Amino acid sequence: MTQLILGAGGILGSALTRHNAARKIPCVSAKHADLDLCDPPAIEAALDRYVPSCVVNAAALTAVDLCETERERAFEVNAAAPARAAAACRRRGIRFVHISTDYVFDGQLRRPYREEDFARPLSVYGAAKLEGERRVLAADPSALVIRVAWVFDCGGRTFLCRLREMLFSEETLRVADDRTGNCTYAPDLAEAIEILIARRASGLLHFANRGELSWRDFADALVAEARRLGRPIRCRKIEPISSASLNLAARRPPYSVLDTSRYERLTGRTIRPWRETLSAFLRE
Ligand SMILES: NC(=O)c1ccc[n+]([C@@H]2O[C@H](COP(=O)([O-])OP(=O)(O)OC[C@H]3O[C@@H](n4cnc5c(N)ncnc54)[C@H](OP(=O)(O)O)[C@@H]3O)[C@@H](O)[C@H]2O)c1
Repeated sequence: MTQLILGAGGILGSALTRHNAARKIPCVSAKHADLDLCDPPAIEAALDRYVPSCVVNAAALTAVDLCETERERAFEVNAAAPARAAAACRRRGIRFVHISTDYVFDGQLRRPYREEDFARPLSVYGAAKLEGERRVLAADPSALVIRVAWVFDCGGRTFLCRLREMLFSEETLRVADDRTGNCTYAPDLAEAIEILIARRASGLLHFANRGELSWRDFADALVAEARRLGRPIRCRKIEPISSASLNLAARRPPYSVLDTSRYERLTGRTIRPWRETLSAFLRE
């Protein structure tokens, strides 16, 4: 019952690798340098060599702003290649799990987004990921596509990941406070993936830690938790700024909270609130 992880060097891929090792789930973790999602013969050969029961595609081009100028590459890595991998898995009877994003939404709703809500991406990254969802499910209707939001864990490169380091190196943190979403602690997502595979879940579903927040809320809570744990942080002040002042190339949804009730109904489990993940995040 081997699991093959694609993109195993990223935030989610690393968390899945650690999770599977701790849970003794047999697993082959393939980093980008070991196995390129965009190399169909290599993917087919890996499926035939490792004969996994399940492939988790944690590989993606996640540099949201870069995607604006690298449109072709964004669609190849985030849409065409996952669909080819899903088709190769389907031909062999291998389950395929793919990850997508809250950035498929335009942020105009004022209640949490459900799986069936209309998706209208504001960025090339979001458009490519939406195309990826559709093409993966067309190639393999029994595939599972999990939309997640603001993934964080120790060692990652996203803003929330870097905030953890910045607490110890910067006196003032300038953090945007005008976008509302969810965050997803990668170890919790890794556990959810194990549960969903065991339940043979398929189709589209949302997963993120409970509770909505802005990046500033995350920074405030992280500082409070670090102080509670007695960590020697340097940060003394958090300065709220607007997302516009960051001059980012890609537009992001102002509101992209995910409704995770389908996951909770399907698994009978309640996802823990994001604030409860912070002490583990700081301790790692
Ligand atoms: N990070 C977030 O905030 C966030 C939010 C919503 C959804 N997601 C989704 O969550 C999933 C996991 O992302 P993550 O947060 O773990 O991102 P990540 O840390 O950027 O990891 C992505 C990994 O994919 C690898 N990769 C890129 N192109 C590849 C290719 N052609 N073949 C094989 N590997 C390739 C990257 O390797 P290199 O760096 O060496 O290229 C990297 O290790 C993705 O589907 C992403 O779209 C992420």
